[in-house]
Amino acid sequence: MCGIVGYTGEQECTEMLLKGLERLEYRGYDSAGIGETCPAGIAVRRAAGRISCLRKKIEEEPIAGRTGIGHTRWATHGKPSCANAHPQSSQNGRVAVVHNGIIENYKELRQELEAQGVAFTSETDTETVAQLLEFYYQGNMQKTLEKVLPMLKGSFALGILDAAAPNTLYAARRQSPLVIGLGEGETFIASDITALLDHTRTICFLEDDDIAVLTPAKAAVFNLQGRQQSRKTEQISWNQQAAQKGGFDHYMLKEIFDQPKALEDTLNHYIDREAMAIRPNTIPFTKEQALAITGISIAACGTAYHAAAMGKAMVEKLAKIPCRAEVASEFRYDDHPSSPQEVFIAVSQSGETADTLAALRREKEAGCWVLAVSNVIGSTISREAQGVMYTLAGPEIAVASTKAYLTQVLLLTLLALELGRLRGEIDEKTMKSYLTRLLALPAQVEQVLADAPQVKAFAAAQSSCSNIFFIGRLADYYTALEASLKLKEVSYLPAQAYAAGELKHGTIALIDENTLVVGIATQNKVREKTFSNLEEVRARGAKLLLITGEGCTIPGELWRLPTNGEIEGPLLAAVYGQLFAYYMALQQGCDIDKPRNLAKSVTVE
Ligand code: M6R
Repeated sequence: MCGIVGYTGEQECTEMLLKGLERLEYRGYDSAGIGETCPAGIAVRRAAGRISCLRKKIEEEPIAGRTGIGHTRWATHGKPSCANAHPQSSQNGRVAVVHNGIIENYKELRQELEAQGVAFTSETDTETVAQLLEFYYQGNMQKTLEKVLPMLKGSFALGILDAAAPNTLYAARRQSPLVIGLGEGETFIASDITALLDHTRTICFLEDDDIAVLTPAKAAVFNLQGRQQSRKTEQISWNQQAAQKGGFDHYMLKEIFDQPKALEDTLNHYIDREAMAIRPNTIPFTKEQALAITGISIAACGTAYHAAAMGKAMVEKLAKIPCRAEVASEFRYDDHPSSPQEVFIAVSQSGETADTLAALRREKEAGCWVLAVSNVIGSTISREAQGVMYTLAGPEIAVASTKAYLTQVLLLTLLALELGRLRGEIDEKTMKSYLTRLLALPAQVEQVLADAPQVKAFAAAQSSCSNIFFIGRLADYYTALEASLKLKEVSYLPAQAYAAGELKHGTIALIDENTLVVGIATQNKVREKTFSNLEEVRARGAKLLLITGEGCTIPGELWRLPTNGEIEGPLLAAVYGQLFAYYMALQQGCDIDKPRNLAKSVTVE
């Protein structure tokens, strides 16, 4: 939930650390700090609030080290305050630590240290790590980490400074993301690659319980027994431009407008336009494997769960395989029976979400074949899965997920189509026609985006609206869930999603003249039924907004989709939902890219 960055090299690193933290601010933004090794020891500057507050503090009290660590926090243990901000230091200042994750047994460890006379100054679990490293110092930090890391239960990505080794940066990870960047005469660590794109695209991913020792010249990786490990380096194709706002006021809006390209890139990777077929080896199933599948489970959280639900609808519609989509935080603990003939799919933009990862591990242990759908190359979920399909959405910075969602749904639709083809449910001609339709999606999304001014004007007229419902049936219900989540998280307005036919079983009591009901109707067999449900709420005073491809003469605002296609409709309707959420939040004056209480990547349970 927090962002970490670190540097060692020839340059003074304060600005690099601050810029890196600004790129990671989406991961957490309630307090921040940096620490650098300086001639007098480790200098630390911390501030409650955003990175801008830390900048101000550093302007007042500058530091100028060449080896440093930085942190932007989303509080888990202890309130957001200067004392609880990272780096956390050991009592004699020998060690400073930045941490992402949770040390589950920190209370016991802290009590043991306090009993030995160690004085703590914060409420954080992280301080325990810094104190342990000083208390058990073995003459060098790598040896000390080999001793201390096995004492820790829970998850961590750590960046560590040792006052006795001023030109060395130490790092370690277990279950929390951490990448190493390799430059010319400089090395880096970061929670994700967006913090490093200004400096290098040569990246190395750490594995669980790796200890990394970084000097300006190289990064060496060791296991807990001190044996050097070889870790593959990769070249990342994302560039910094893709991770910047590009003239838009907010990342969220920029990423909504990125969607035609994100779809195009993903389509080009998976579809051979000449053959009008799925490219070989991009979808990791053979005919035999596809025929052997008895069921599919998909688990994910938040927006990715809504993509999973859409995936379920597509798998059942197109591949005719029984499929369920579950919220990962429930699925990881519930009593569902798993069978080795089943396939499990984890959907996660970041590839680091703790509950989704736990669900994946559970199913893998139960013998299911596990597939990851992720946007981040080398993420934990994609590395632990047996197969991986990447969305090519590019970096998604806004906390509200938009382009990742669209590409996840697209990928699950492609998977459903290919499984349907391999299982003989879809013939070649039909397959080509589906793929041709999907290839038209980027242009259709452009058409929806051209309606942004209409969406903005409609949003501006909704000030009297105290309650918003999104309703739809089948796949449209999942789009309703997503549209409602998007609106809630960025505008803080109360919104609910309902299966359109379910409303009259109680919840319709909430409908009055201050209610806006947004009806989504893209699925042909239930389109008219959703229209009828809209009539029912209109009769009870609600204002209506309808998103559909055809039909409907009910009075109200109408956003017309450029196609009636049932597989394209949900994606296009979702874009209207994103724009609506954005413009509602804009007029509420909300902090759109960093909504309150949230963080982009939920790496704690
Ligand atoms: O990285 P993931 O896709 O696993 O993240 C899952 C959710 O935390 C995420 O989709 C969240 O719901 C978004 N803020 C929604 O916009």
